Amino acid sequence: MILVTGGAGFIGANFILDWLQVTDEPVLNLDKLTYAGNPENLASLAGDARYVFVQGDICDRPLVERLLQRYRPRAIVHFAAESHVDRSLHGPEAFLRTNVDGTFTLLEAARAYWSELPAAEKAAFRFHQVSTDEVYGSLSPEAAPFTEAHPYRPNSPYSASKAAADHLVRAWHRSYGLPVLTSHCSNNYGPYHFPEKLIPLVIVNALAGKPLPIYGDGQQVRDWLYVGDHCAAIRHILAAGRPGESYNVGGGNELANLDIVQKVCALLDAFRPRPGGESDGESDGKSYARQIRFVADRPGHDRRYAIDASKLERELGWRPAESFASGLAKTVRWYLDHPDWVARVQSGAYRDWLQTHYGEP
Ligand code: NAD
Ligand code: DAU
Repeated sequence: MILVTGGAGFIGANFILDWLQVTDEPVLNLDKLTYAGNPENLASLAGDARYVFVQGDICDRPLVERLLQRYRPRAIVHFAAESHVDRSLHGPEAFLRTNVDGTFTLLEAARAYWSELPAAEKAAFRFHQVSTDEVYGSLSPEAAPFTEAHPYRPNSPYSASKAAADHLVRAWHRSYGLPVLTSHCSNNYGPYHFPEKLIPLVIVNALAGKPLPIYGDGQQVRDWLYVGDHCAAIRHILAAGRPGESYNVGGGNELANLDIVQKVCALLDAFRPRPGGESDGESDGKSYARQIRFVADRPGHDRRYAIDASKLERELGWRPAESFASGLAKTVRWYLDHPDWVARVQSGAYRDWLQTHYGEP
């Protein structure tokens, strides 16, 4: 069995669904179910004996210890986090609590459990820290992509809290010998992505006839990776990564935010033309791109991220399977096919967030 933390969130849920497609090894999912955690993402596993869900907080050490003793996992894959940069600017406390204290608690509980394991199980045990490329900070336009040797220069409360957690993970390896692995992935996109993040926000707002907010000049660059490719990378690293090592994960798809939004609009124009024509069901013939609005920039906004994933490709044979065009088309289709999921995640808490952050009535 493996213990996954934060498995009801975007990447964690995709990871568990993929894991149980490719292996029969059971999964224990520990998730607090914050606004970002949605058990409905894993509804297809209802009644599957390979899947156990526990609602709980990674900061709750007695709970984590009980779970480790009871289920005796051979690995922990640690996704649980506060993950949204804009939220970290409005309220950093929750980020320090979950991302730093929570990781510390997990590490301590894992160390106590691991140190008592029989020799063979002790050697095979892994603690996988799911980190981000944001810990490296921002790149200038001409700079080479981040390698694993790039210095940490986090610029937001979110990335600083992830960086702090990564340092703890490294120290638990160096000081105590805990067999840890760390991955630094670029921006993911795909099904079950909470619509506070750029791509799902744009899809959902476009269909609702609302503005598509672009921070600043929209020329900030991110390196986009389909979520299934990130999940496959984690499986590769867990299976064959060297303890104490870090691995960058990225799609080699550097794109400016404005280009991303225009690509999403073009797909929506093709799959679900904008309504508003003269008769019912007729399109107004205009692109969703006319809903784009430039709004105030994000404070401390990192200008460019780019990932050099050659270590993971060379050492562990991982390559992304999805092109950006195929992954984005799949993603847009998924949102069009799941209006009920979208409606249900747009809870009161989500509406409060839109009001706080974008001032939407
Ligand atoms: P998410 O916000 O969608 O999901 C986070 C999950 O963690 C939720 O299910 C939430 O309920 C759970 N959680 C939060 N606090 C918890 C706590 N104290 N105890 C237990 N569970 C808790 O996040 P995501 O986008 O799926 O990201 C998952 C991980 O991957 C994060 O660690 C993030 O830093 C990292 N990451 C994300 C991306 C990306 O593009 N989304 C890229 C690289 C790395
Ligand atoms: O790089 C990996 C990171 O990617 C992860 O560690 C984070 O958990 C994840 O949230 C994501 O962070 P970003 O800040 O890059 O993602 P977000 O979708 O919030 O924003 C992507 C870009 O789009 C960023 O440059 C800000 C911009 N943006 C975002 C929103 C929500 C806009 O222009 N308008 C918006 O309304």
